[in-house]
Amino acid sequence: MCNENEIFTLVQLAQKEENVNPKDSAKNYLLAAQALVEASTHHPEKEPQYLELAQKSYLKAKQLQEKTQINKFIPPAKNKITFEHIGGLKQLKEEIKLKIIEPFKHPDLFQYYGKQAGGGILMYGPPGCGKSLIAKATANEAGVSFIHVKSSDLKSKYVGETEKNIAELFAQARETQPTVIFFDEFDSLGSDRSDAPAHDKSAVAQLLTEMDGMDSKEQQLLLLAATNEPWSIDPALRREGRFGTTLFIPPPDEEARRDILQINLSHRPTEEINYDELAKLTAGFSGADLKAVCELATEIPLKESLHTGKRRKISKDDLRKAINGTRSILKPWFSKALQQVQKRGLEEDFTELVQEARKGVKMGA
Ligand SMILES: Nc1ncnc2c1ncn2[C@@H]1O[C@H](COP(=O)(O)OP(=O)(O)OP(=O)(O)O)[C@@H](O)[C@H]1O
Ligand SMILES: [Mg+2]
Repeated sequence: MCNENEIFTLVQLAQKEENVNPKDSAKNYLLAAQALVEASTHHPEKEPQYLELAQKSYLKAKQLQEKTQINKFIPPAKNKITFEHIGGLKQLKEEIKLKIIEPFKHPDLFQYYGKQAGGGILMYGPPGCGKSLIAKATANEAGVSFIHVKSSDLKSKYVGETEKNIAELFAQARETQPTVIFFDEFDSLGSDRSDAPAHDKSAVAQLLTEMDGMDSKEQQLLLLAATNEPWSIDPALRREGRFGTTLFIPPPDEEARRDILQINLSHRPTEEINYDELAKLTAGFSGADLKAVCELATEIPLKESLHTGKRRKISKDDLRKAINGTRSILKPWFSKALQQVQKRGLEEDFTELVQEARKGVKMGA
């Protein structure tokens, strides 16, 4: 049990550290609260005073913990998405296996060949084509801790808060390593400093500091980022040793579209479906569009059943109707992307994007 002096020293220490080291400050406030509650049972004459102070210390500790907790970035339920749930993208899966999953699984082998695990990979490509899906599956396949950060969640309008959030995120990742930190919608955090307002520049600077601090002892930290505006990412972040590897996540090709349609319909009652035919009919659709097609097609017999009380399976016709009723945003995205990349002279940096965009223009897709 602490005596009164020791308790007040704890409180003073907690107050002093509040701004400098909020985590330790919270710990000391909690210790003080516990000690005060205990002391109140031994000194009934001071009970109200001690309990009031205990409550204040406890609330202060909770406040500080909430402020410093990055745990909010970890999704509560572990997702079970694996590569099996991703249609197509075979080559990319292989590349991810070699660059990310195997180094985490066999660090010794990679060290032997002078290859390091960890580092940074930037995934870019049109919306709805599987970037976020791949990141989640990668973490599950590698069997490592996974912190999913929506980049805008790290940003604060208060001066210095964004940097603090980033620093704490990396600190937490180091504690649980091997860890994959996934920065989703990365453009909102890592956008080019020359375009950004003053307080956004510091976010990029802090990221650079953290990444440059990832020395060889910290081989077990992998940074994955995803964006559909790669041209707006600060070039300094795309250098070797940072997000040095860029991976283009293309729209699904015919084979991939067939897989994605199958993945989305496999657990539903369907008539015999010619997936090859459907894959042809959905040229120019993203994975998200294909998912929407399957949802729409399913709703047709479902609604009918609600009226008639009879059940029928999802038919080819339902799927055709759903396809006709779905407009993909891939075409406008590629035109905008090509424009932006050309405007900034980044054709060499994003060659696959440019090729894919030109293919679309030629085909008139
Ligand atoms: N290759 C794929 N295989 C299976 N489903 C896919 C695939 N690509 C996209 N989808 C479906 O589309 C949805 C959206 O995909 P995802 O969130 O991964 O897109 P994204 O590339 O991250 O898009 P954004 O740039 O808008 O964030 C997924 O939840 C999934 O249902
Ligand atoms: Mg995404």
